Amino acid sequence: MENPFAEGENRIIRPPSTALVIFGASGDLTQRKLVPALYNLAHDQYLPSGFVVVGVARSKLSDEQFRTNLYEAVKKFSRRPIDEAMWAEFSKKIFYEPVDAGIPDDFARLRRRLESLTQNANAEVFNYLYYLAVSPNFFGQIASNLKGAGLVESVQHGARRTSLIIEKPFGHDLGSARELNTTIRDSFAEQQIYRIDHYLGKETVQNILVFRFANGIFEPLWNHKYIDHIQIAVAENIGVGSRAGYFDKAGILRDIVQNHLLQILSLLCIEPPISLSDAGSIRDEKVKVLRSMRRMKVEEVAAKTVRAHYSAGAVEGEKAKGYLEEDGVAKGSTTETFVAMKLEIDNWRWAGVPIYVRAGKRLPKRITQITVYFKKAPDAMFRGRQVLELEQNVLNIQVQPNEGISLKISSKPPGPRLRVRPVVMDFNYDHSFGVASAEAYERLLLDAMKGDQTLFIRDDEIEQAWELLAPVFEAWDSSSPPRLYSHEAGTWGPSAAADLLRPQGHRWARL
Ligand code: BG6
Repeated sequence: MENPFAEGENRIIRPPSTALVIFGASGDLTQRKLVPALYNLAHDQYLPSGFVVVGVARSKLSDEQFRTNLYEAVKKFSRRPIDEAMWAEFSKKIFYEPVDAGIPDDFARLRRRLESLTQNANAEVFNYLYYLAVSPNFFGQIASNLKGAGLVESVQHGARRTSLIIEKPFGHDLGSARELNTTIRDSFAEQQIYRIDHYLGKETVQNILVFRFANGIFEPLWNHKYIDHIQIAVAENIGVGSRAGYFDKAGILRDIVQNHLLQILSLLCIEPPISLSDAGSIRDEKVKVLRSMRRMKVEEVAAKTVRAHYSAGAVEGEKAKGYLEEDGVAKGSTTETFVAMKLEIDNWRWAGVPIYVRAGKRLPKRITQITVYFKKAPDAMFRGRQVLELEQNVLNIQVQPNEGISLKISSKPPGPRLRVRPVVMDFNYDHSFGVASAEAYERLLLDAMKGDQTLFIRDDEIEQAWELLAPVFEAWDSSSPPRLYSHEAGTWGPSAAADLLRPQGHRWARL
């Protein structure tokens, strides 16, 4: 029997019985992320006892062949080494069904298969969770064929919860995102749709809320009166590699800024939500941030954004090709691999605080960091005391790779003279908690199985994010676009990126 007093982190609350159906079962995401995440959830005993995974794709595979493929994938990509006994147990829950997204009869067969796989002695009803790890062109077709086959139940009256997880890219611009939302909502209600942004599954991103709202000392300072400016960087050292075909049509603004970076920004800047355990209140506040962000005029884009792509260089000691030389990149492509922008939020809390963001591929290292610069203390009383200039307090939230938070404060070094030196107070996840963070997909899959939408993006959030960036795309696509710079691979972007901050006397944080 369950111990009712076993509150706290040791008490595992498992989701209800679930059949997870993965469309795109032979794809990269399934192999690299989804199945390794499920394996680790099984390892941690987070999965319900009633659980099956049904891989779906066009090719004809047996359950056994599918399991063998996944075994190799888990061996290669799991964050912990594969445990043979654990795998043997887990793999019994994996099945495969060939389905062509465009053939309704295939969905009828899928339904029969699901019914037979989820029949059990207790007549327990399984929830159905569909994961679309396929190209967005198929989203609408799959959603409507699921509905046609009776695989989508009504939110109010259905016997089971039937939900849909969708991977990015969610649209290419505002118009296509709206169209996609409408198409999917023809078959699923918004409460049944889980749009994934895997950054929201990262521990440090979730910690932004705890850090801001569970500490009495930060929230009172979290506004334009005390904060001078904010920077957010999502830097990657990798190039576009085998994903050039996709990336060349997207660019870094669509690939990183529209989703991951704006999600970080909106969590960092939200008003306190009414509750952290109610998806609606957090998502409402995030949308308000996005809606309050100043819309750029098309003619301002050149002054407020800098875009570039990398030329040949070296990253971490290894030679790197230029973007235009990468396989799969169109000849003479003008797709940006680096972008820097100045953003602003026009509300009472943030008016006048510039938020500088940058993202890029083939930068010197992989790091995602939020840097909050507080206003400087007045230095009149230190004059004549060998203090040249007081430094600002700087709060760093490192999302990855060294997850943690540090605060730079001014302090007096030991000795007879009054001097001031910056020192750093550090909190590091590994040292403080001594456990490795789970992969983002583990948390997100579990939440979706539990029916918790908090860490997923709502339709209006997606649309606001696209709307915010619309003028930038318009300017870049115009007949007289702002310049596309280039920067050597392994450097922090073109020097023009620094010019974006200079007029306000700011500089990019050293990462
Ligand atoms: C994906 C982008 O969403 O995020 C990739 O499409 C990018 O281009 C990746 O490399 C970065 O994710 P992470 O978790 O490695 O920072």
